[in-house]
Amino acid sequence: ARHLLGIEHLAPDEILAILDLAERYVDFSRRTVKKSDALAGMTQINMFFENSTRTQASFELAGKRLGADVMNMAVAQSSVKKGETLIDTALTLNAMHPDLLVVRHNASGAVNLLAEKVNCAVLNAGDGRHEHPTQALLDALTIRRAKGRIQRLTIAICGDIQHSRVARSNLLLLGKMDNRVRLVGPPTLMPSGVAEFGCEVFDDMKAGLKGADVVMMLRLQKERMDGGFIPSEREYFHRYGLDAEKLAFAAEDAIVMHPGPMNRGVEIDGTIADDINRSVIQEQVEMGVAVRMACMDLLARNLRAERGAAASEVMA
Ligand code: CP
Repeated sequence: ARHLLGIEHLAPDEILAILDLAERYVDFSRRTVKKSDALAGMTQINMFFENSTRTQASFELAGKRLGADVMNMAVAQSSVKKGETLIDTALTLNAMHPDLLVVRHNASGAVNLLAEKVNCAVLNAGDGRHEHPTQALLDALTIRRAKGRIQRLTIAICGDIQHSRVARSNLLLLGKMDNRVRLVGPPTLMPSGVAEFGCEVFDDMKAGLKGADVVMMLRLQKERMDGGFIPSEREYFHRYGLDAEKLAFAAEDAIVMHPGPMNRGVEIDGTIADDINRSVIQEQVEMGVAVRMACMDLLARNLRAERGAAASEVMA
């Protein structure tokens, strides 16, 4: 494939190939010298129209470790602030011949649209409520390393499902890999029609967590609530926040995950988040760099093959 736009486009064997390559980049990133030439001579531009800590930092580090020239477009100082559209901005950057464009945008589908307009590889770093594919891949790698497999597990995704691209990409990936997925959260934050994805839906944490191997917590995405109902944080924590009492219903060796950014005392108790025997939140961050290295390495290989084929046609 030319782009990485969503988990929906990936087959199970492609997901496993990314995880296997990422595994090698985990070891690579733990070395003292972390420099490869997999992206040597290539230009990577990161365009983040929404705030980010983990995704932007890890894409930047991943590109640099692979030897690319990496540019972070400073959206706040760009001509976007003068009214230039996403597509015009992308076409402008495309004219400078980047090879990889990493894009985060608040509109669902914006990254797919942009991919149709440019002639480099596009990686979706999160678009609205739609998808966040590298997050689901890094979550899968974290789970596989903790549990020894990424199949036949019971995984509870808890919280604000309605507004979460992380939930959507995880639901797609975990379903493709033959896991049992439960969505747990208040009915007001549960999208209609999720049962079509083959998951079970719960509005009670204890029932939803019962026997789960993996407990994945999500924050309340207030920035996407558009003036709709926002629960009180105190009440929310009481009913849906992960604390020791609720976690006791999950499997004894259940792991706790959170994509970040986390709001302690709202969707998760700080003690649980910091419990190194249960929480793999920092491992998720580490896997983020490795997974993004793997994704960009694979797309760069495809790009080189595509360009090589085009060059041969011209020569023929
Ligand atoms: N998980 C995640 O996407 O975090 P950031 O918003 O900090 O990139």
